[in-house]
Amino acid sequence: MTTTVTVRVPAKVNVQLAVGAARPDGFHDLANVFLAVGLYDEVTATPADTLRITAEGHDVDRIPLDRTNLAARAAELLAARCGRSPDVHLHITKDIPVAGGMAGGSADAAGALLACDTLWSTGASRSELLDICAELGSDVPFSLVGGAALGRGRGELLTPLPVGGAFHWVFAVADGGLSTPAVYGEFDRLTEGTDVPAPEASPELLAALATGDATALAAALTNDLQPAALSLRPSLAATLAAGTAAGALASLVSGSGPTTAFLVKDPESARAVAAALLASGTCRAVRVADSPAAGATVL
Ligand code: C5P
Repeated sequence: MTTTVTVRVPAKVNVQLAVGAARPDGFHDLANVFLAVGLYDEVTATPADTLRITAEGHDVDRIPLDRTNLAARAAELLAARCGRSPDVHLHITKDIPVAGGMAGGSADAAGALLACDTLWSTGASRSELLDICAELGSDVPFSLVGGAALGRGRGELLTPLPVGGAFHWVFAVADGGLSTPAVYGEFDRLTEGTDVPAPEASPELLAALATGDATALAAALTNDLQPAALSLRPSLAATLAAGTAAGALASLVSGSGPTTAFLVKDPESARAVAAALLASGTCRAVRVADSPAAGATVL
């Protein structure tokens, strides 16, 4: 009998985040091109008397350890589907920036789901697991599948995308987090009274991903949430400028921020841009990672 299961789950960067007008349910329709990057959280599930969460790693004092943690909700939803109680100890080892726009919370939810599914041998199909992911949050299905994918709807309806080569990234971690609903709220405020077009994936961007062409990808990167993130956190402009000055092919806010992402030519350039960003004093920490990365994986 399996007694402990550990799952590794990647972070993501949105290489295109096209945001439509707010829907009646408050969510926004998206054309959301997700790319999984090699920064990982790990979730270990062990049988226990009751549902319990512990965590170690960067900024874990900022994540809830009660049932409001998405990882706990993942265990509860899966247990409810199988008619069992969610008696499991989930230990989260965090490396993905907390509340940083890199889907760290979603990664933990997908990791907890796969770990519990394996521990409990539920026999749930992949599509049942994806349904639970979508119930947990818009970005959670992508954390399960990884690679690259176009997310439609509120981001949960995924179509896998081909990626023709490795892309190299530097990420600048900002002080504190940004609340995703607050950033979408600021997007609504900034676009009020304007005609927000229906979101569409960029053919140039999809072609750049498919061919592995970093220069073409750099030219096509867009994030409709970036003005909102910059409005709430104006200091991010200096971080973006520091990365560009240091030779990044392109600089953008990752998802709803405040992490900023810098696409670079090669690993050597990644080291140079990372050092320059740190020296600029415009961010708290830097991370280097390659993409694409595999989705949630049992170790
Ligand atoms: O789906 P998730 O729980 O991650 O979404 C968090 C919040 O982000 C939502 O409550 C909503 O305010 C905003 N959101 C949105 N449109 C999306 C995804 C998220 O407005 N497509």
